[in-house]
Amino acid sequence: MLLAGRAARPIRKIPKLGWFVADPLVARQIYNDSAHFSIVSEGAAGHWWAQVVGEWVEDLFEGPGHTELRTRVRDLFAAKHTDDLVHRVIGDALQQLTVDLDAGRTVDIAERARVLVGRSVSDLVGMTPADIAAVFELADHGDDPDEPFRILFDHVEELVNLAMGTMASTTLDPVAVARARTLAGKLAISVPAAYERADANTTLGRCRELGLPLQHASGLAILMAVAGTDTLASAMTRMVALLHDSGEQHALLAAPERLPDAVREALRVTSPAYLVGRSVTADVEVAGRQLRAGEHVKILTWSITNAVGDFRVHRDYVAQTRQLWFGGGRHLCLGAQLVHSELTGLLDALTAAGRPFEVVERRYRRKVFIPTYETLRIRLAG
Ligand code: HEM
Repeated sequence: MLLAGRAARPIRKIPKLGWFVADPLVARQIYNDSAHFSIVSEGAAGHWWAQVVGEWVEDLFEGPGHTELRTRVRDLFAAKHTDDLVHRVIGDALQQLTVDLDAGRTVDIAERARVLVGRSVSDLVGMTPADIAAVFELADHGDDPDEPFRILFDHVEELVNLAMGTMASTTLDPVAVARARTLAGKLAISVPAAYERADANTTLGRCRELGLPLQHASGLAILMAVAGTDTLASAMTRMVALLHDSGEQHALLAAPERLPDAVREALRVTSPAYLVGRSVTADVEVAGRQLRAGEHVKILTWSITNAVGDFRVHRDYVAQTRQLWFGGGRHLCLGAQLVHSELTGLLDALTAAGRPFEVVERRYRRKVFIPTYETLRIRLAG
């Protein structure tokens, strides 16, 4: 369907669904035009969230609270902080990956990615492994310290999956609202304690210093867990599969200085947030078409970014698409730098031995909103 989406270039109306955008310049025009497009009205993500965590979230998405919060947490999402975080929180696990591969062991990248992402996003929010264990009523430091993060992933994924079927409308039916609130409420169980003691260098700690009410801090913690878990795990696992399937891992091993290009290409080709919604709040002309207030717009990110071509480690930065996989304008992904730090860490670990890997077994994860692998077992070749 996303391949067919290219036919929407630059913008096309589909009855009952609204406008589909398959052009990078038009997409950016919409992202940058907050006078005519909204993220909180029916048809966009903020509208979905308001039903789950409360209407106050509209200020967090689009009101003065949005600008203030982004300004006050900016340094937590900068490269220096996210590189340190990756080193501190998942450095040992990445090193273990290198050791396991080098020893000839088979490693399930999909399973490891789910744990790596859970650990890093929790830390960014200000939740300790003990907080996560408490959410799922598990003993901290039990036999398997990764187990709380595996459960966390499934839990967050179930919440994300509730967004399936929102193509025509983001208004959830009462059963979905109830389930989403239960899942979100459970995620927030440890937030009050974490909010009290979280370091100022975490999102919750920063919220406390900002004087943001606990309820709002909880909502933000849930939102970040949802925004940054499935998307990043999908990018990690699919990046590894892409390097294998395209044969481009050989190009990377021969030119390790292209590693940042491999990361960028992986994000372009996977584009895990493959479709982004906006609602039209005032009549406006876009690419010669008249959009009316109340209509919906879907930006076909994956279709746009993949029109550039196949995954190539030697492809330079593409100015036209820029970083569209992270959106654009005032809502440009806050976690972009964490994503880069983490994908870089994973690729470093994967290529450390200087030898190519082979895929031993793969299975797709079924019925999920963000496509990914259930299993991707790899080992170093020969
Ligand atoms: C490969 C992984 C990721 C992709 C592809 C991705 C993509 C996106 C996109 C497209 C948006 C804009 C949505 C819109 O305009 O409606 C967005 C927003 C956001 N992302 Fe990400 N994201 C990723 C990972 C993360 C991570 C790891 C975090 C943090 C832990 C994160 C936090 C956020 C937040 C907080 C926003 C809302 C920003 C705002 O409204 O100002 N994301 N992301």
